[in-house]
Amino acid sequence: MNKTMRLTTVLLCAVVAGAAAPALAQSTEVNVYSYREPGLIQPLLDKFSAETGIKANVLFAGDGLLERVAAEGELSPADVVLTVDIGNLVGAKEQGLTQPISTPAITERLPEAYRDAEGHWAALSLRARVFYVAKDRVTETALTYEDIAKPEWKGRLCTRPGDHAYNIGLIANRIAVWGLDKTREWLTAVRDNLAFAPNGSDRAQVKAILDGTCDLAIANTYYMGLMLNNDAEPEQKQWAASARIVYPNAETDGTQVNAAGAFIAKHAPNPENANKLIEFLLSDEAQQLYANANYEYPAVASVQPAELTLSWGMLKASPVPFTDVAAHRGEAAALVDELKFNEGPRN
Ligand SMILES: [Fe+2]
Repeated sequence: MNKTMRLTTVLLCAVVAGAAAPALAQSTEVNVYSYREPGLIQPLLDKFSAETGIKANVLFAGDGLLERVAAEGELSPADVVLTVDIGNLVGAKEQGLTQPISTPAITERLPEAYRDAEGHWAALSLRARVFYVAKDRVTETALTYEDIAKPEWKGRLCTRPGDHAYNIGLIANRIAVWGLDKTREWLTAVRDNLAFAPNGSDRAQVKAILDGTCDLAIANTYYMGLMLNNDAEPEQKQWAASARIVYPNAETDGTQVNAAGAFIAKHAPNPENANKLIEFLLSDEAQQLYANANYEYPAVASVQPAELTLSWGMLKASPVPFTDVAAHRGEAAALVDELKFNEGPRN
């Protein structure tokens, strides 16, 4: 834990101590645990505070926040947890870390597929798992997940490890659509079409396209925007510029999407303010800010993605509800193990 986190923890603990006082009903604070980086979340929280007068205390961490909420139990200061991946959202509910979100915004603003049936979590933004293809070596403009299992892709695919949550989400979505047997066949063929054993991040796969070692990378949409605008590491602009995005299954059953989302902690000391924050995060204004900052798709259908995001093409999202995808995550992980996917092509 770094110094800032420690300080924030002290502040959060102070909030808990204060929460025992009778002033709780008029609480003017909300405590946020966020897996999402400060650059993305802080501007939203500042806006929320300016509009509502509710101060948002935030603890950022790359991992361990769900474990932390669980360990803190009834004493946890966490009101709202912001996280990525449907597995984390569904897992939080399964572990009993959540409570129903009560703001009507959750049902008014989100389609059923993007929220828990009992309101225990809400998607805030969507990311599609797509193909990045080499601009100078791939001519296809329409491709399907089925296509990349074909022999013409032999030695040309790359992806991060199969057990990463992003790939587990994709494989689980395929199991929901195709069933386990067809997905096993598909994943075996995809494994054997890989250019090298899976390693690195989504961005590293796009770098491999520039390097010429891979022709088609499986990666999330928003990395295109993040790389193209990466002034801190300008070489990433070249990686991104070497590729274009193809939305798999755009003309059939739709492209797999995953979510970033939020839940209200079971023992939230400020549940009213937590609901106000969720309501704000589902507002047009916040959805637009969020989408523009991270090149994700708004979870609220009436809000448009960023112009750059739109320039990659139209997303037709797979209609499989997130809860169905999450239900197949265990099978997906078992398949990755069974096929030794991370060891790369077998022949
Ligand atoms: Fe990511």
